[in-house]
Amino acid sequence: MSQAQLSDGNLWLHFTRTSDFVTEHPTVPVLVGGEGVYVEDATGKRYLDGLSALFCAQLGYGRQELIDAATEQLARLPFATNWAWAHQPAIDLAHALAERFPGDIDHFFFVNSGSEAVESAMKLAMQYHQLRGEHRFKFISRNYAYHGTTFGALGMTGLAGLRQMFEPLRPGHFHVPNTNEYRCSASRACPPCDLACARSIEQVVMAEGPETIAAVFVEPVQNAGGCFTPPEGYLDEVRRICDEHGILMVSDEVICAFGRLGTWTGAERYGYLPDIITFAKGVTAAYQPLGGLGFRSHIAELLGQDRTSMYLHGSTWGGHPVAAAVALANIEVFEKDGVLDNVNANGPWFGEQLWGLHAKHDIVGDVRGTGYFWALELVKDRDNKVGFDDDETERLLRGFLSTRLLELGLICRADDRDEPVIQLSPPLVATREELGQIVTILDQVLGEATVEMQR
Ligand SMILES: Cc1ncc(COP(=O)(O)O)c(C=O)c1O
Repeated sequence: MSQAQLSDGNLWLHFTRTSDFVTEHPTVPVLVGGEGVYVEDATGKRYLDGLSALFCAQLGYGRQELIDAATEQLARLPFATNWAWAHQPAIDLAHALAERFPGDIDHFFFVNSGSEAVESAMKLAMQYHQLRGEHRFKFISRNYAYHGTTFGALGMTGLAGLRQMFEPLRPGHFHVPNTNEYRCSASRACPPCDLACARSIEQVVMAEGPETIAAVFVEPVQNAGGCFTPPEGYLDEVRRICDEHGILMVSDEVICAFGRLGTWTGAERYGYLPDIITFAKGVTAAYQPLGGLGFRSHIAELLGQDRTSMYLHGSTWGGHPVAAAVALANIEVFEKDGVLDNVNANGPWFGEQLWGLHAKHDIVGDVRGTGYFWALELVKDRDNKVGFDDDETERLLRGFLSTRLLELGLICRADDRDEPVIQLSPPLVATREELGQIVTILDQVLGEATVEMQR
């Protein structure tokens, strides 16, 4: 499809302003190819993919091992379900994940996307409690967290702007402060963090009645709002609250698992053991759609307690053999090429370079993140932490940054779901030199943005 064909409106894009593509001159690039960390559009322009497409292209583009795995599986058995049947790629993948996920998260159920993984975790949590004789149907997640778009996952999503159009949603969703230490909404004492953000979870639990709460969902590092890392002790405190009140802890790792933070899972990175981990995106390095959840033995035991019990959930494509074969090849490449080592060797250096941009440009209020997952929060007045108003944000993000970054050949995300942030999530195979190219472009753009916003 060319730019001209895009403008006819046959293809409708996700979360994209219609005026950006159904118009005589669409601003949305049409991608035609990719190699390494670069992609190319229909006009021949090359971009460094500093976002791994959408936090998912862990190995970049053109990896022959994954292409071969898909091709071989298509020839051998192009399709089989996990619905009363099994196939070898899904069995092998579940086994490989059990070896790499923490503790007794040894049981895996595959779906097709992150939203479906979240839906599946919600249903698993509700069924688990039912089997224990409790009707728990309420869920707690955090403000601004993005957990997906289907109706259950949307309720979990803490972005009012995405939910309101579709309300009322299923009842029983509660949103609590996230771990934004730069602009803490939970405690006047922060910093240093006094874990008021974690205590707010317990307050909701007590107000609603612990016997009604099925699960608490957290991302190890929260994406929406800009890479909020957990304060020291936060995740342990969430674990304690869940344990004390019989609540399941779900680690939504649709972004954080598969190396984004330098480990197989975010739970491993921060040393906690949730009851369920949801994943998608990086599991196949985005070469095939696949999502899923891993869960602990106490849940598995309950679901298998008698001859007739089962997890009441399923989908036709879940655990598609081609996707599962690609995921296995992805894991092999991770190990053969030392992908986690690459993230751990270069991630801290990347963070230092971004802090260097903070030192140089007053428009950068905060730098947050870890591994290959970072955000810069942009502010109007750094000394007083004053952000841009709505009109200024529109001018900064849509009027300037989004276009200018693409002109200079860098794909990253300029977003304002909370305060305006630039988000970076490069392929995990990016070298120091390629990360340096990202920093050089950002340096130029931040200088220009400062001038632009002073007009
Ligand atoms: C933490 C988290 N959960 C769930 C989702 C939804 O995933 P999908 O877009 O594959 O439905 C996302 C998507 O970005 C996510 O970041």
